[in-house]
Amino acid sequence: METKVVATVPLPGAAPAYAVPGALGLVIFGASGDLTARKLLPALYTLAAQDLLPRCFSVVGVARSELGQDDFRQRMRAAVESFSRLGPVREEVWERLAGTIHYLSASVEDPQGARRLRDLLARVDRACGTEGNRLFYLATPPAAYAGIVRALGAAGLASGGDGRGWARIIIEKPFGRDLESARQLNRQVLEVFREPQVYRIDHYLGKETVQNILAFRFGNSIFEPLWNRRYVDHVQIAVAEDLGEEGRGDYYDQAGALRDMVQNHLLQLLSLVGMEPPASFEAEAIRDEKVKLLRAIRPIPPDAMAERTLRGQYTAGVIGGRPIRGYREVAGVAPDSTTETYVALRLTIDNWRWAGVSVYIRTGKALPTRVTEVTIQYREPPLLLFRHADHADHEGPDRLEPNRLSLRIQPDEGIALRFGLKPPGERIRLEPVVMDFGYGEGFGRESPEAYERLLLDAMRGDSTLFIRGDEVEAAWTLVTPILEAWEASNAKAVHPYPAGSWGPEAAEELIGQDARQWVRL
Ligand SMILES: NC(=O)c1ccc[n+]([C@@H]2O[C@H](COP(=O)([O-])OP(=O)(O)OC[C@H]3O[C@@H](n4cnc5c(N)ncnc54)[C@H](OP(=O)(O)O)[C@@H]3O)[C@@H](O)[C@H]2O)c1
Repeated sequence: METKVVATVPLPGAAPAYAVPGALGLVIFGASGDLTARKLLPALYTLAAQDLLPRCFSVVGVARSELGQDDFRQRMRAAVESFSRLGPVREEVWERLAGTIHYLSASVEDPQGARRLRDLLARVDRACGTEGNRLFYLATPPAAYAGIVRALGAAGLASGGDGRGWARIIIEKPFGRDLESARQLNRQVLEVFREPQVYRIDHYLGKETVQNILAFRFGNSIFEPLWNRRYVDHVQIAVAEDLGEEGRGDYYDQAGALRDMVQNHLLQLLSLVGMEPPASFEAEAIRDEKVKLLRAIRPIPPDAMAERTLRGQYTAGVIGGRPIRGYREVAGVAPDSTTETYVALRLTIDNWRWAGVSVYIRTGKALPTRVTEVTIQYREPPLLLFRHADHADHEGPDRLEPNRLSLRIQPDEGIALRFGLKPPGERIRLEPVVMDFGYGEGFGRESPEAYERLLLDAMRGDSTLFIRGDEVEAAWTLVTPILEAWEASNAKAVHPYPAGSWGPEAAEELIGQDARQWVRL
């Protein structure tokens, strides 16, 4: 495939073309935790290395742990050393970033803690020129979100400081654990902040290849005419992980794959693949279309749960030569847990474009490989001329290989189109060939990490890649009846599968009953 890029592309490693945000202070709640160390500080370090942080900037880490400012900076430096994608820490970059970092040991839910935070932010505004602009980041366990939001409101921190600044709040996943709790959290947040101030994270949306779904669909004229029920046979969306649950067993055992992956990442992918063209590329126009698509997905009726949903749990096995213990042996997981580590669903979309087209989604832990891929499978040609040619000499396959378009989200990000061609020779028969575009080779540089992009967008006030309140509720509206049906059914309904396999055998039946099969990933 032609991979030449006509526009000017920065040299590998050069800063991507992003605008530098204006002055602001970033406040991270949960600053002593894993997400801050593993993702947030390394992302800030990369932005600093690329000169993408505001000229007037500060980071205030907040947690209850008793840590001095220097201890906290030391920890953050160690985190950047361990997790930065840029290799060894560059001293001058680190010193520049470290100079902006502050730490406040406080429980913000306690009014005194919130007042101390407000005073510190006022001092930081004066010292760093951050102009009363505040970006709050909730990186605590979800149980603490509502209390922190309430405390921010009570301390007068829900609007910018100094009488002129702005305030925004980023909220980590999970946003609720079912429809009712998501609604309640939305209400609690919106009692204090207005919707445009709220940035709900789904880090999948920060991935370049996910954003490219829209660019691919709406920036080219050759695919969109075929993007509908007349030409598409079905759609598959797969998110496979080649690790078992490691390190967060207690959290995961309360969540499961449906909450942890389907409600957010898979339904977000589906909304981008299925949505109508937005009126513009403004945040609200795009999110309006995404939510319309989510609302058009038909909820699975209770009597169809058994044939259209499937859950599994991995047992001991081997992945890539590495032995993996069974899910129930993981620390923090109940020995008789029925939490699903694998989900497969068949969904349908009740709208003009997609009526009658099935969407099969699956996600699992401890599968043979790590891959996220969206596959559009096209219908067969109306007349199978070549099948008859094959039959004539009794050598060819009985069916033509279907045309498929694969959007690979990770790893080896790219787009592949499979179609049939006649190989050289006398006989007329078709063999599948693939046109493949790899982002890495095509654009000659690495994509930014999702958290880099999302932090930058929130700093600049662009909410396109964040989930709106109505979107999150629409997704829970679909998922909650499945959760409830599963809770009411017996434990045997959770199908075991050995780690390193492609999931329970019953998953083949879920798609096989429609005479289709999962694509090989
Ligand atoms: N880790 C990841 O890779 C990851 C990925 C995606 C999403 N997330 C989400 O990010 C959030 C944080 O996850 P994490 O893995 O970083 O958790 P974690 O390692 O347990 O850290 C939680 C942090 O929150 C603070 N905290 C705990 N209870 C609190 C409370 N009641 N009030 C205020 N602060 C409290 C803790 O510090 P103190 O005890 O010192 O206050 C700690 O700094 C969670 O919502 C999680 O679902 C994490």
